[in-house]
Amino acid sequence: MKIGVIGLGYVGLTTALTFAKLGFKVYGNDKDKDKLEKLKKGICPIYEPGLDELLAEMLEKNQIEFLEDITETIRISDVIFICVGTPTNPDGSPDLSQVEEVSKIIAENLNGYKLIVEKSTVPVQTAQWIKRTIKLYSNEDANFDVASNPEFLREGSALYDTFNPDRIVIGVENERAKEILLKIYEKINAPKIITDVNTAEIIKHASNAFLAMKISFINMVADLCEKTGADIKKVAEGMGYDKRIGREFLNAGIGYGGYCFPKDVKAFYYIGKSYGLDFSLLEAVERINNSRIDRVMEKLKNALWNLKNKKIAIWGLSFKPNTDDIREAPSIKIVKKLLEEGSIVSAYDPKAIENFKKLFPNIIYGKDKYEVLENANALLIITEWDEFKNVDFEKIKKLMRTHIIVDGRNIFECEEVLKYKFEYYPIGRSCY
Ligand code: UDX
Repeated sequence: MKIGVIGLGYVGLTTALTFAKLGFKVYGNDKDKDKLEKLKKGICPIYEPGLDELLAEMLEKNQIEFLEDITETIRISDVIFICVGTPTNPDGSPDLSQVEEVSKIIAENLNGYKLIVEKSTVPVQTAQWIKRTIKLYSNEDANFDVASNPEFLREGSALYDTFNPDRIVIGVENERAKEILLKIYEKINAPKIITDVNTAEIIKHASNAFLAMKISFINMVADLCEKTGADIKKVAEGMGYDKRIGREFLNAGIGYGGYCFPKDVKAFYYIGKSYGLDFSLLEAVERINNSRIDRVMEKLKNALWNLKNKKIAIWGLSFKPNTDDIREAPSIKIVKKLLEEGSIVSAYDPKAIENFKKLFPNIIYGKDKYEVLENANALLIITEWDEFKNVDFEKIKKLMRTHIIVDGRNIFECEEVLKYKFEYYPIGRSCY
C-alpha cells in the first residue's frame, strides 16, 4: 500500500513519517517548494522532539519521498491523506478552500480506486463536500471512498502521540475503507473507534473545544481564587481526583494558544451557530481566554506602577514548551502591549527566538535565561519550559534591578521564591 500525504505541516509531516516508520511507502507533497527542498535534504522545517532523527532514518531507508508534483503524488498513491491547513476566516468560519482545491486535483487524477482520508481538522460534513467535489470534477466511473481520520497529536510531543494515541478515530462509509484504515493502524496499540464520517468530524472539534473549555473554566476559577485568597493549584488537585473530571488540562495560566485551540473553538462555535444552536458556551470560553492577557498586564502594573521605561524580562515565547511554534502565542499579544506601554522588552526562549524575531525584530533577545534579566524590573514567565523550573534564585536576584516575578504558568512554589525575598505574583494564588 502506497500512502500519499498532502500538506506537510505539524500533522502532515508527523503522520507521513509515522506511516513510513510503520513500513508503508510514503509520498509527501506540499505546495511550499522551500519546505520540500529542505525535507529532501533531511532538514526538518519545524522543531519537534525526535522528528529530525526519524526524517533522516526514513530518507535513508527510502521509506519516504518528497514530491513537488501533487498530481504525481495522487497518481502514485493508493491512500491519500489530506493534511492541508484550515485557517480561520475573518468571521470565525473555517477557510476550507485548500481542502477543496486538493479535492479537485484528486478528482482530475483518479487512476483507479483510491481512499481519500481527511486528517485536517474540519467542520462536520466536510467529507461529504470532498466526496461531492470529487464526483463533480472526475469521470463518472471514478472509484473512490472518502474517510475521516482526525489527528489528536499535541505539538511538542507529536511523534510520541502518533505512536501512542489515546484512541484512533476512523470515520468511514463502508467496509473497504474501514479495512484499509485498520490495516494502516494495525501496529498501533490503541482503541479504534469506527464510526460514520460526520461523527468522526464532530469527535475532533468537540474534543478540542472541550479541552479549551476546561482551561477557561480553571482560569475563571483562578480569578476567584485570587480575589478570595484561595489556591488554584489545590483547587485543581482537589477537583482532579474526581475521575469524572480528571487533573489534566486544569492548569491555570495565561490561557491557551497555538494553531489548534483558538481556531477550533471559533470554528465549532460558528458551526453550532450556523445550525441555529446555542453554542454560546464556546463564546465564553474564548472571551475568558482572551482576557488572560489583560490579567497579566494588570499584575505587572500592580507591581511596577508605570510600565514606561521599565525593563521586562520574558521567559518563554512559544505557545507551549518543546516547540518553536509561536502561532497564537500569548507572548505576541503581551509583547505588543508592553511596547505600547513604552516598556523595554528583553526575551529569551530555548527554541522560538528566530520565529519571534520575524515579528519583533527590535526587542532585546538574550542567549540564555539569565542574560535577559540584567537590570530588569520584572521577570514575566509566559511558557513553562523545563529549564525555567530549576533556577539559581541568588543569581537572578543579583542580576535584576527590582525583584518582581510575574509567573503566568505557576511554575514555582511560593515558599522557595519568598525565601529569596522576591515579590512573586503567580496565577490564582497569593504568595506573600
Ligand atoms: C491541541 C490538542 O491537545 C491536540 O489533541 C490537537 O490535535 C491539537 O491541539 P496543542 O495545541 O499542540 O494540541 O497543545 P496542548 O498541549 O493541547 O496545549 C494547548 C494550549 O493550552 C497551550 O497554549 C497550553 O499552554 C494551554 N494549556 C494546556 C493550558 O493553559 N492549561 C492546561 O492545563 C493545558
